[in-house]
Amino acid sequence: MLIIANWKLNGNWSFNEEYASALSNGLRGVDLTSRQIIICPPSIYLQQMNGLLVDQEIYLGGQDLSDETAGAFTGEISGVMLKEFGCRYVLVGHSERRLKYQESNELIVKKALNAIAAGLKPVVCIGETQEQRQSLQAEKVLSEQMTALIDGLGQQIEQIVLAYEPIWAIGTGQTASALQAQEVHALLRGMLEKVSPLVAQNMQIIYGGSVKAENAEELLRMSDIDGLLVGGASLVVAEFLSICTANRAT
Ligand code: 13P
Repeated sequence: MLIIANWKLNGNWSFNEEYASALSNGLRGVDLTSRQIIICPPSIYLQQMNGLLVDQEIYLGGQDLSDETAGAFTGEISGVMLKEFGCRYVLVGHSERRLKYQESNELIVKKALNAIAAGLKPVVCIGETQEQRQSLQAEKVLSEQMTALIDGLGQQIEQIVLAYEPIWAIGTGQTASALQAQEVHALLRGMLEKVSPLVAQNMQIIYGGSVKAENAEELLRMSDIDGLLVGGASLVVAEFLSICTANRAT
């Protein structure tokens, strides 16, 4: 099970110090064998966080990476650089990047392949807008996003983590109900059957969108939800700690 904190454009030197210390203390003695905790701070703080999170099995992830590997690409950060600064994971195709920075399915595939080539696990985000859901287009949109991934990544799709983040639930306080999320996760898993039953079965599909301490447990109880991608609530360390330790009923 994966619990990922996406800090987005938040954090600063002293906040990070306090956060890392509170998180390490809070997780001391907690059995983390069945779950991985991953923090995705802004990339400029990766080195600081890498130094702070030394005594606990807490991993780091980037929030984005370049679709290029090196060269004249001002402002970009490559997968190899993220890896060098301690990352194991990287978010790819977050809806904020798809919408605000016009990232296409094609670009997202390129980024995911770059991440894999650099030895990182891409957490590829998909999800529908409120409008698409209301006009009953959600399944069509998700299917297009999945087809782009399946066709573009080929067999390498088995290297990714899939994150379902309904855009209408991000930062709105309006969470998909556990049943709604489960329904979509099962649908996505079904789409992966096209690749192979094994890939479908093994794919980690995590949910993101207004996850909080109060709904984490219910979401994690769903059979097709393999983890959580947490935005706002991950910035409050006490809240994130209770999400990290939420029990998953078997
Ligand atoms: P919130 O948890 O703030 O809704 O954000 C979700 C998200 O975008 C995580 O990547």
